[in-house]
This record gives sequence, C-alpha cells and structure tokens, in this order.
Amino acid sequence: MINRCKPYINFKDVISSIQNIDELTYDPINKFEREVASYIGSKYALGVDQGRTALIFGLKALGIKSGDEIIVQSLICQVVIDAIIEVGAKPILVDNNIFNYNILINSIRPLISKDTKAIIVAHLYGATTAMDEIIEIAQENNLYLIEDCAHILGGKWKGKMAGSFGDIAFLSFNFDKPISTGSGGMVLVNNSELIPNFEIYRNKVNRVELDIDKNYVFALLIQHTLTQKENYKQTLSIDFGKNIINKYTQLSETINNNLDYITNENDLCKLVEPYYRKEMNFFLMKRVQSFIKIGYNKLQRMDEVLYDKNWNQSILMNKYRAQTGLINLKNIEKVNEFRNKNANIYVELLSDNESYSLPEYSSEIEPAFLRYTILAKKIETKSIFKLSKERGFELGNFNWFAPVHKLNRYSTFRSTEMNKLENSEYISEHMVNLPTHYYVSEDNMFDICSILNNISRC
Ligand SMILES: Cc1ncc(COP(=O)(O)O)c(C=O)c1O
Repeated sequence: MINRCKPYINFKDVISSIQNIDELTYDPINKFEREVASYIGSKYALGVDQGRTALIFGLKALGIKSGDEIIVQSLICQVVIDAIIEVGAKPILVDNNIFNYNILINSIRPLISKDTKAIIVAHLYGATTAMDEIIEIAQENNLYLIEDCAHILGGKWKGKMAGSFGDIAFLSFNFDKPISTGSGGMVLVNNSELIPNFEIYRNKVNRVELDIDKNYVFALLIQHTLTQKENYKQTLSIDFGKNIINKYTQLSETINNNLDYITNENDLCKLVEPYYRKEMNFFLMKRVQSFIKIGYNKLQRMDEVLYDKNWNQSILMNKYRAQTGLINLKNIEKVNEFRNKNANIYVELLSDNESYSLPEYSSEIEPAFLRYTILAKKIETKSIFKLSKERGFELGNFNWFAPVHKLNRYSTFRSTEMNKLENSEYISEHMVNLPTHYYVSEDNMFDICSILNNISRC
C-alpha cells in the first residue's frame, strides 16, 4: 500500500552516520542548526525534542504568560493549543479560509484585545500564508508574529522563505513532516533582539540522553521500512516505530548490534518483523477488548488526548538526530521539486471534476507541497478512505478530523456568535489529503485520480 505521508530518507547514509558519529570532525547539532537557519534565512536556531517543545520554548522566551491571549487558527494541530495553554496563555481561535485552508486574515483584527500578545500562523500542507497583511496587523498592534512551519520547509511568499517572516518560527521533524529525525523540532529566531532570551532558556535545559536520541533515529528507520510500499499492508500510526522501539528494549539492542549488516531496508525489516507482529497482535487484542467493553462510538479519535507533557529538563536535540537531520536536509530541494510536480499532476487530473474543490493560490505563493489537500464536496470522505485502501492507497483526512473548537477538551474556547469558525468545520469534514511524497510514482497518481474520478460518478 502507498503510505499517506513519508519523508525522503537516505537509508544508507543514516545507518553509516550512526556507526561513525564519534569520528565526525564537526559538531552535528551546531551544524544542523546553522544549516537550517541559513536555508530559511533566520538569525538563530535551536534543535529540540519536538515541534511542540519548540513552540513552548519560543513562547517562554517571548515572555508569554498567564492572562495573555494568542490568536491562532482553529484548524491546526491540537498540540499547538496545548503549548499555548501550557504557558498559561489563552488561545483565541480564528477561522481558516476556505480557498487554501490557511488562517482567515480578515477575521483577525476584530479579535485583538488589550491582552493579545501574539498571532500564530500555520502554513498548512506546505503552502505559505499570504504574509503582507498579517505582518501589518502584527506591527500596528505591537504583537509578536509566530510562524508554525511544521508542514513547510522551502515554501515561499513573494520569493522569501516561510519561517523568515515571524519574530520566531518553529519546525517539526516528526515522520509526517518535510524532513524527519524520527521526532524533533526546531525553533527559529528572526528578531535578533530576542536571541539573548533564547540563550537564557537554552542554558536552563539539557540535551536528550544519547541513547534516547539514537532510539529516535532507529524509530525513523523502522517507520520508513515498514511504510515502504512492499511492506505496508495495514495502516500504521506515525508513531508506530517510536512505540515499538520504546516498548521492546531488545529491538534497539538488536539493531545496534547488527548495524554492520544492515545494508538496506530489507535487512532491517527482517530484524523488526517479530516485534511488528507482536505489536500488531497486541493492538488487535486491545481493540477487541475495548470494543467489547465500551462500544464502537467511544473509539472515535476526536477527543483523544494526544499531548504528552514534554516540558521537562532534557529537551535539546542530541547528535544522532542532528546528523540525521543534516543528511535529510541535503535533499530538500530535490524532494520539494518532486512534491510540487506531483501536486501539479493532481491539478491536471482532477480540476475538471466538479465533485472536488481544489485549493487556490495566488502567484505570490510558492508552495512546497507536503500533501495536496482537496475538498470532496459531494462524497463522504470515509468512503474515499475505504475504497482507496482496498486499492492500495491511503487517501483521506489525516489532518484533522475536527477543528480544535469542536473538541470537548477545548470547550472553554468555543466560538462565539461573532466568530463562527464555519470554514474550519467545513474543511475538516470534507478534506482529502493526497500524497505528494517521494515514494509515489506517476502511475500511482494516475490510479489515485482514477479512483477519485470514478467514485464521484457512482
Ligand atoms: C501544523 C502543526 N503544528 C505543530 C505540530 C507539532 O509538531 P510535533 O508533533 O513535532 O510536536 C504539528 C504536528 O503534527 C502540526 O501538524
């Protein structure tokens, strides 16, 4: 089956870097931070444990505190909201625009109050938000501007990189992101006055232990191997690799002891196979048990608590992940070109079909498509997911089943009459994410579009 999301991985180089890390003549952490900062055009970068940690770090360094308000779009990853709450601030939710799913800019101004301190804009699915007016709003109201670049690395607005506009920006290096280190994040600083604050916080925290850091890279390689189309039979969560490496300590030892013999994905697959089977059986049993106990409806994912509090003392990235990030960063331009070419194929093959609406981008937006996201106007997205899975593809809504204001745990931030957030609800109900990654072939895309075109005729 073709996986819904997959970063490009140079498998051999990553394996060899793990073996030879002590012989490096440079500090990979510093080099990774400098290379990402220089690619984006930022003045400072700090590699951390996850994207959410990068945001919490940034909010603390900006001095955001209890009682402050932060304006943020409602269709976004819920850990962004958790990060805001974690520092004591209040998220003020704004709608997304229906044309390309980013923040609805003309809804921002009415939400600004004396307590507003920042605006967060996320460049969803790899397409940049139109930045001019947002920068103007932030400047006029003396607000910090924060860019959520979890979905974008290399996309531009008016020729300038996403991530270089805000006072700060942050990246995620999770598995379903433009480049991956297994798990990871980076905070970027563009406003140089803020750098001393980042240095203060940096000195208060430690690096993730080396063994744990290395396990994240193993998790990446496992996830990559299990989601290669030859091996990928059953939908796996993006954390599957992380979960099994944490759960079965023997697996990590086995990989470590066999690094000399792992020359390709097949070699690793053989080592992982017994643990994969064990975990799948365990998962199946757990599902059956909870099905019997609580009934199907309770298994819906909407209110699942996803945020594990990650703000502890060991949050800085260590050298295994940094070196892996460096290797993967080398290919970013090639991969982005590929992703954009793939998105264009979807445009060509789907734009005449009135059952779908395709995103619209002004000529100033140069995306680097992490996924190509369309809206199914007349067909249930669940049927698309079911049918496409039978044909060997994962097409459906993978971000997100509901905007955050619809989740029970954020009920206190529900919309008011004035601020209805209707677009974000419509988008989440109708969205279908199509894969643009490096491992989707042109033939795959023809098949995907023929599934989408045929289903709309039924
Ligand atoms: C738009 C967006 N922002 C932030 C994050 C948080 O990143 P992380 O999972 O690395 O904490 C995600 C994660 O999926 C995301 O999709």
